[in-house]
Amino acid sequence: MKVLVTGGAGFIGSHTCLSLLEKGYEVVVIDSFVNSHKKSLKRVIDILKLNKNINNVNIEIMELDIRNENALDKLFFEYQSNGNSIDAVIHLAGLKSVKDSLLNPLTYWDVNVNGSINLLKVMNRYKCRTIVFSSSATIYGISSNESLKENAEIKPINPYGRNKVAIEDLLNDTFFSDKNEWKIANLRYFNPIGAHPSGIIGEDPMDVPNNVFPYITRVAAGILDKLTIFGNDWPTLDGTAIRDYIHVMDLAEGHIAALNKLIECDHQIMNINLGTGIATSVLELVETFERVNSIKVPFEFADRRLGDSCKVIADNSLALSFLAWSPKRDLEEMCVDGWKWQLLNPTGYK
Ligand code: UFG
Repeated sequence: MKVLVTGGAGFIGSHTCLSLLEKGYEVVVIDSFVNSHKKSLKRVIDILKLNKNINNVNIEIMELDIRNENALDKLFFEYQSNGNSIDAVIHLAGLKSVKDSLLNPLTYWDVNVNGSINLLKVMNRYKCRTIVFSSSATIYGISSNESLKENAEIKPINPYGRNKVAIEDLLNDTFFSDKNEWKIANLRYFNPIGAHPSGIIGEDPMDVPNNVFPYITRVAAGILDKLTIFGNDWPTLDGTAIRDYIHVMDLAEGHIAALNKLIECDHQIMNINLGTGIATSVLELVETFERVNSIKVPFEFADRRLGDSCKVIADNSLALSFLAWSPKRDLEEMCVDGWKWQLLNPTGYK
């Protein structure tokens, strides 16, 4: 089975490629490399050779921007002509900074939405109609106090979130245009953190991180002075905001579970939360990181960050029952693995 992974060199992409290869899938990666590193996939190959004694790793890597429809068409054409067609797509390519999306909405709509339209057009042309899409819990917008079910209100509050909703809508319309053909999974990620336990691959933001976990690892490493915790006046036990952190390897395995489900099932479209369902405050995250790694993370409190929610937690019961998947790594492992990656790679992939 040959799977095309768009954006396969990024944080989630590299871990997902590793899981796919471990399960015996043939992998083709396309990536623009504007926000990722070629080295991440070389490292994926290293892990497989080290751990599994696999000499022939079945991965092909190409630099390709999903906005380039001709290049996408050529890619599908060449595989099909060689009798080696692409069977399914895991679509992770896209820009992902909420802050940046507010500053550059046109670029975000172009890359994320136009890129996805191109991909679907080409997939349709070559009758490749199985796709797993990286959606996000951000589409739920400001959440209530309850865990979020997949049928919760969709109310994104920034261009990045609206892009994700637009792509889900696009996939939905595509599915209903020909129900007999398409198999689609929209995976709504909560907060992926951590790294592969080897510390060989991990998250490497290009600039100063916006997200809390890579910020913590850089403060612990002495690269950044201190963490600013946005808000200690939220209506939570310790006053800091609550999220559902999920180990990136559990998230990667969620993609394989969704793909397997699509392969075995009839034509369908599914929206599925990928989270642990476990609530962790920012202070709890910092304290766990400090304790398991025996290292200090200096921090200060500041005002709430604009657009933040108090609590974003998954109801993951659909993933548990329908995908036969469950998250296996706890917060301590997320902190240990993420710190190992930082220690072994003080300058990321550079
Ligand atoms: N936070 C800090 N200090 C920081 C960064 C973050 O206190 O330097 C806090 C935030 O205020 C928030 C929590 O840590 O309360 C988590 O923030 P992140 O930026 O790590 O993650 P978000 O929940 O804001 O957003 C993330 C991704 C989105 C995705 C969303 C899904 O960045 O892309 O999860 O819920 F859509």
